[in-house]
Amino acid sequence: MPARVLVGTQWGDEGKGKIIDILSEEASAIVRYQGGANAGHTVVVGGKTLILHLIPCGILRPGKLCYIGNGVVVDPEALFHEIAALEKENVQVEGRLFVSLSAHVILPYHRLVERVMERLLGNRRIGTAGRGIGPAYRDKAGRMGVRVCDLFDRRVLREKVAVLAEQARMLIERLSEEGGLASESSSRVPGAPESGPEGEDLRVDEPSDIVESYAALGERIRPMAVDVSLELNRALGEGKHVLFEGAQGTLLDVDFGTYPYVSSSNATAGGACTGTGVGPTMMDEVLGVAKAYTTRVGNGPFPTELPPEASAALREAGAEYGATTGRPRRCGWFDAVIVRHSVRINGVSGLFITKLDVLNNVEELNICTGYSYEGEHLSDFPASLEAMFRVEPSYEILPGWQCSVNEARKKEDLPREALKYVHRIGELVGARIKGISVGSAREEMILLD
Ligand code: IMP
Repeated sequence: MPARVLVGTQWGDEGKGKIIDILSEEASAIVRYQGGANAGHTVVVGGKTLILHLIPCGILRPGKLCYIGNGVVVDPEALFHEIAALEKENVQVEGRLFVSLSAHVILPYHRLVERVMERLLGNRRIGTAGRGIGPAYRDKAGRMGVRVCDLFDRRVLREKVAVLAEQARMLIERLSEEGGLASESSSRVPGAPESGPEGEDLRVDEPSDIVESYAALGERIRPMAVDVSLELNRALGEGKHVLFEGAQGTLLDVDFGTYPYVSSSNATAGGACTGTGVGPTMMDEVLGVAKAYTTRVGNGPFPTELPPEASAALREAGAEYGATTGRPRRCGWFDAVIVRHSVRINGVSGLFITKLDVLNNVEELNICTGYSYEGEHLSDFPASLEAMFRVEPSYEILPGWQCSVNEARKKEDLPREALKYVHRIGELVGARIKGISVGSAREEMILLD
């Protein structure tokens, strides 16, 4: 399959990093198409754990080319930080990593505006990863964003930065006047850090400083900056394999997730086309990843969430802490309604189930097969957030296996109960199971076909 898309089918953190790492063995090029450094893709190679935020996981496979597509919002500081961390681990990055000239750039203003907006939302806040993702996409859609190619032209950069700085300053001042923020946040002394009531630095950086530092970062990006669409279409034309690496998950997609408790990009398979410049007719296969249970970080509805004690037990068993922010993840039972929704939205043809081993010691497993809402049975995901907050999950109960599955390398090695659990998931979500991950290491995997 020359062009293959891999997507998350839940609220992110499905274990995509490991699956991408395995699939990238067959690919010549691996490309990220949306999101930014809010992602945290964990890969365990040779006993060593590496977490990638912005750079495709394929970088860990020597000789593979890696691309950051136009649909990604790039924080240059985070990018160079990640490159340095990889080089420290003796991963060769130079000559293998390329960034789209049209990708949008995250500036310090975006992180600042995000902090302010989250504070203003109070208990309705999204619980973002704090990487400036939402404001950067907002400026992109608002036609005022800075693109990678703009970093090479000081005049354009100066004009755009001035507008973004003014926008951030006005927002903070306005909110302060309305009492949404402490008044000291607006009385800026240029160049001096300021603190909000929670000791937060709400200083708006001087535009001239930003122009200087981002023009310098631009010079460092220049050797990597390419037309990703041209490069990928050329590779596909030569019969090479390209893997499109989705970040976050379908339920965090800005169109198909639990809006507004979502990220600001299209994490779904369609995003692979708009985020790279490769047309839909070029795509051959869409693969999904689902964890054997469900987690979510940040706020928003989560129908199968477990009560605190049981959630904490699953969190400890599965080491469910955010790979980017370290935040504890909320944990719950497998929800077939949301994964069925994702299988349809993405056109998933094969599904990987991950972290089956985390359920080793659970006596009875619940799978949510549908929801009830105001006396009605729902087998599909409701669009209304209000409804999604109030639905009651209907469960099917399956026996657990109460032994380790970590050593299993083929499906015959699995206890009957574990195999039945996975098969039932496949039936309920309407997807062929392609692989089962039974541990964090590359080799702890059962491939079915
Ligand atoms: P943002 O993407 O930082 O704007 O955050 C929006 C929502 O998406 C928050 O609930 C985040 O916790 C969540 N989110 C963003 N990236 C990831 C991810 O890679 N894994 C899981 N949740 C994420």
